[in-house]
Formats: sequence, C-alpha cells, structure tokens
Amino acid sequence: MKILFLGDVMGRSGRAAITTHLPRLRTEWRLDFVVVNGENATSGMGLSGEHAKLLFEAGADVVTLGDHAFDQKDMLAYIEKEPRIIRPINYSKAAPGVGARVFPAPGGRKVLVAQVLGQVFMKRPFDDPFSALDAVLRQYPMGGQVNASLIDIHCEATSEKMATGHFCDGRASIVVGTHTHVPTADAMILPGGTAYQSDAGMCGDYNSVIGMDKVEPLRRFITGMPKARFAPAAEEATLSGLYVETDDRTGKATRVEMVRQGGRLAQAGPA
Ligand SMILES: [Fe+2]
Ligand SMILES: [Fe+2]
Repeated sequence: MKILFLGDVMGRSGRAAITTHLPRLRTEWRLDFVVVNGENATSGMGLSGEHAKLLFEAGADVVTLGDHAFDQKDMLAYIEKEPRIIRPINYSKAAPGVGARVFPAPGGRKVLVAQVLGQVFMKRPFDDPFSALDAVLRQYPMGGQVNASLIDIHCEATSEKMATGHFCDGRASIVVGTHTHVPTADAMILPGGTAYQSDAGMCGDYNSVIGMDKVEPLRRFITGMPKARFAPAAEEATLSGLYVETDDRTGKATRVEMVRQGGRLAQAGPA
C-alpha cells in the first residue's frame, strides 16, 4: 500500500498548501491512504470542523490531532460525529472521540491509525503512552486483521520518539513523530520492518519560528516580555511528511521516503 503522512498543518498557509498540492500528489504518487496531522490548522491552535472538512475534501483519509486537539471548542462536538478524526489515545479519560480506529482502504484493505502523546517536556502530564500503545497493537497486530498500521507519536523529545519507534518495531507499519514542526532527516525502516521518522515536520511557512510569524517569538526570546499574540506566518508553506510503501500481507514497510513539497525547504519526495 502507498501511504502518505503529512505533519502538523499550520494556519492558513498550511491549509493552502494542502489544497494546492494534495489532490495532485494523490494522483501522481497513486496514493492509497493519506493521514494528515491537523492540530494547528485553525489559526495555529487546534482544528475547527470547517477546516477539518477542507482537509478531507483535499484528500486526507484520516486527520490526527495532538495536545492542541480541543483548542477550537467546536471540535469537542465535531469529533463525535466525524469518525475520521483521531485524537491522542492518552489525552484524557474525559476527552470525546477516540485515539485509535481501523479505516477502510481501496480494495477492501484495512488501515489502523492511532495517535499517542509523549510525556517528556510536555506542558501537561499525560498517561503512560507505552501501555496505551501496547494495548492497541495487541488488539490489531501487524499481519493480522489490518493490512497496515500508522502510529503518530506526538511529543517534544526525539529520544522519546525513537524509543516509541523501537517499542513498535515489527508491530506497526509506520511510526512517525509530530509536534516539533521541524522535520528530522532520519527516515528509515527499522530492523523489524517499521518505517520511522522522528518528526515529519509541519505543513507551514518555514520562514518563521516553528510556523509562527517570527517577530513576536524573537521578541520573547530576546527580551522575555510578550507584547503581542502569536500568529501563523503567512508565506508559502512546505508540505512536509513521509511516504511509505507497505506489504499488504505482512504489514511491513518496503520503502520510505521523506516528503517536502513547495515553499522554502529543500524539496524531497518519492518521484
Ligand atoms: Fe503542532
Ligand atoms: Fe502539538
């Protein structure tokens, strides 16, 4: 199966990059399944129902969220009626929606998508991600009822992400990091057959500080004094993520390529 994962969509320029490039990439790369992280798509903070619709219309099969899952209040109700949105499995026992679900793919195939929050350097303490993941991967083992599985590990520390990759190696088709908004250059297939990248990077304007207009973040770093609100940077975004081919029978990854399309970053992709 040909699977594309795209990292955190950041504000208006991130949304514009999705609507500009994703429909074309779906056809050109003959994609079977597309997962997009949408946690920053609305003004850089959360995802509104309206913008979720836009991501699906552009070609996303599933949208994952993150620590900003419910920054837009309408997502609390929207996620209950839109099964294609996945929030972190360990967000809170009180959170609406689910953290893992099996989705249909072309040809009667099935794909498991799950998201988990890490614990290192995160603002809020979240429940143990490893036991949560273990339960999901026991329920849907690779090469069992699902043809492929994708885990979005949403956290700050590359160490925690790599540990998650190895924890899931041979048990999930893809483990990909999100949240830092900067792509890492370590796309690989782990020894057990799991495609891995520590962070997919954001779909946003890279002439910025992790997607925000750089003036206010710079002021805060330099003076320690906030003066204005953060706003997403507005120049052309780079679509950033990971392209993976998997074996439908075993679920193992057979090819992995980093993806960077449009905008300011050096370009990359499977073509
Ligand atoms: Fe993010
Ligand atoms: Fe995040």
